[in-house]
Amino acid sequence: MLTINHLRKSFGSLVAVDDVSFSVERGQLIGLLGPNGAGKTTTVSMVAGLLTADKGEVLVGGAALQGDTDPKKRKIGLVPQDLALYDELSARANLRFFGALYDLSGAALDKAMAAALQLVGLADRERDLVKTFSGGMKRRLNLAAGLLHDPDILLLDEPTVGVDPQSRNAIFDNLEELKRRGKALLYTTHYMEEVERLADRIIVIDHGKVIADDTLSGLQARTPGLGGERVTLESVFLTLTGRSLRD
Ligand SMILES: Nc1ncnc2c1ncn2[C@@H]1O[C@H](COP(=O)(O)OP(=O)(O)O)[C@@H](O)[C@H]1O
Ligand SMILES: [Mg+2]
Repeated sequence: MLTINHLRKSFGSLVAVDDVSFSVERGQLIGLLGPNGAGKTTTVSMVAGLLTADKGEVLVGGAALQGDTDPKKRKIGLVPQDLALYDELSARANLRFFGALYDLSGAALDKAMAAALQLVGLADRERDLVKTFSGGMKRRLNLAAGLLHDPDILLLDEPTVGVDPQSRNAIFDNLEELKRRGKALLYTTHYMEEVERLADRIIVIDHGKVIADDTLSGLQARTPGLGGERVTLESVFLTLTGRSLRD
C-alpha cells in the first residue's frame, strides 16, 4: 500500500534522513522505532507531503506521489506529533474544520465525524470545548481528525506522548480495529513496549539510517540472551550498533 524508496533529507549539513526504504501493507502496522532526533518525524513529514525529499520516492498503491496536489495524497491520513487542535472550539467544530480541508461537507461530513468520534470513544463529548479535555482525549481527537476522510494509509507520529495509560490502551484498541479494517499503519515511537505490542514489523532508525527492519522475533533472535526476556530498545541498540542509546 505504501512504499518508501531511498528517501533522503538534509537540513544544512545535517542529514536527518539517510537512504530510508521500507513498505507497509494493508492490515499491517509498521513500527518506526528510534530515539529522539532519529529522523522519525522528518520521514513521516515527507510521506505526508509536508516536506520535500532531497532524494527518493513515496509510492501509494504502487504509483509515485507527484507533488502536493496529487489526488493519491487523499489516501494518506496524518496524526501529527504536535497536536493540531483548537482549544476554544468543541470537538465537533474541530472535526468540521478538518473535514473542510478534505472537502467533506453536509451528510458525508456528519457521517464521517460520527464514525470517527465513535471509534475513538468521544461521541458523548462532541459538544464540549477541547480545552476541557485531558491530554489523552486530545490525542484521541487528533486521531479522529486524521481518520475523517477514511484514508487507506494512516501515519501516526508518537501518538501516545503525554497520554494516561487508560487512553493509551484505548488508542491501541483503535489501532487494532483499524488494522482489522485493512488500513496500512505507520507508527513512530521511542517506546519499545509499544512496537512490541502493536507492530507486525519493526524498523529501527538512528541518525537518519535504518539499522534494522525485522519482526519482533527476528530482532529477539539477533539479540543474544534476550530470547525469553523482554527486549528493550537499549539492548537492541547495543546489539545492532555496539553502543548504548544516547538520551
Ligand atoms: N526543520 C528543521 N531544521 C533543522 N533541523 C531539523 C529540522 N527538523 C528536524 N531537524 C533535525 O533533524 C533530526 C531528526 O529530527 P526528527 O525527524 O524530528 O527526529 P525524531 O522525530 O525521530 O525525534 C534532528 O537532529 C533534528 O534536530
Ligand atoms: Mg518526532
